Amino acid sequence: MSSPAQQLKQPHQLPIVSPSLLSADFGNLHDALSVVAAAGAPWIHLDVMDGHFVPNLTFGPPLIAALRESSDLVFDAHLMVDNPDDTIDWYLDAGCDYITVHLESSRDVRAMAQKVQAAGKGFGLALKPDAAVADLAQYLPCLDMVLLMSVFPGFSGQSFITDTPDRLKELQELCVSAGRTPLIQVDGGINPQTAALCAAQGAQVFVAGNAFFKAENPAQACADIIASAR
Ligand code: DX5
Ligand code: ZN
Repeated sequence: MSSPAQQLKQPHQLPIVSPSLLSADFGNLHDALSVVAAAGAPWIHLDVMDGHFVPNLTFGPPLIAALRESSDLVFDAHLMVDNPDDTIDWYLDAGCDYITVHLESSRDVRAMAQKVQAAGKGFGLALKPDAAVADLAQYLPCLDMVLLMSVFPGFSGQSFITDTPDRLKELQELCVSAGRTPLIQVDGGINPQTAALCAAQGAQVFVAGNAFFKAENPAQACADIIASAR
């Protein structure tokens, strides 16, 4: 039988584009969610930054809860915070559907996974570009998603780090040898060209900040990423 998180991910066909709200106009966030829905992107990526784990500060649970009231998108929260173990309940209460925390910041990955999955939501682990992919191996059985960063976390609009496809390949091999199939998400500098490179090595969920929100036609940008990831 599939877990609640596996059921959650089934309604959406892969590949998935998850536009990052970080690149939207923070003065018009409700409009931004409408643009995402109108573009046919089923997910919205929510970059939570605390000014400690990364040198930038964005938004937190109250804002996410307010957006939740007016949106049916899958809320894909990426927590770049020092203390996810102590605060993960906040993001469940705010209505997030996937909650991804950084391995580098976690004390007890399994306890967080259990809590999120018991609530019927998906749990993910993220790795910075300089973290060893092999460190994920012991946690694969409890993950619904793995997020490989293709830039150093903190800011949108950075250039894609070119060894990411090699790291994705290593991750894919790790998953195959462990017999696990978490969603594979890539985040940072994604556009149709880099999406194709990542898709060839197993990426399935494509976070797009500037490539989506700064595009003249976000729906077309979304379609272009999907087309090149297929
Ligand atoms: C960076 C964030 C990303 C960022 C992506 O720390 O995790 O989600 O918003 O933005 P782009 O796609 O512009 O690199
Ligand atoms: Zn992110």
